[in-house]
Amino acid sequence: MCAMHTIFVRDTGEAFQCHDGESLLLGMARIGRKCIPVGCLNGGCGVCKVAIRSGTVCKSGAMSRAHVSEQEEAQGIVLACRVQPTGAVELEVLGKMKKAFSM
Ligand code: FES
Repeated sequence: MCAMHTIFVRDTGEAFQCHDGESLLLGMARIGRKCIPVGCLNGGCGVCKVAIRSGTVCKSGAMSRAHVSEQEEAQGIVLACRVQPTGAVELEVLGKMKKAFSM
């Protein structure tokens, strides 16, 4: 059976369930939520940039270094379309469209 992990988005106070093996962004989009901005879904545009504040994720593909530096990645800053949860995760949205979402 596929494990589910609870993802909590601090900015909006929303939580959603993400499957094992599914990116954070797809898990959110699958249930029609919009708390993390969705762009290319391919690790290239940077709009889905988030900071993992608790919990762990594993990387599922390349992230554009133009959007996430190695230093940032070491601090838990990632692209939500390129990471999958390995447990419950709490995150903050950092992407470019953040303003539109927090107003
Ligand atoms: S949606 Fe474009 S980098 Fe994630």
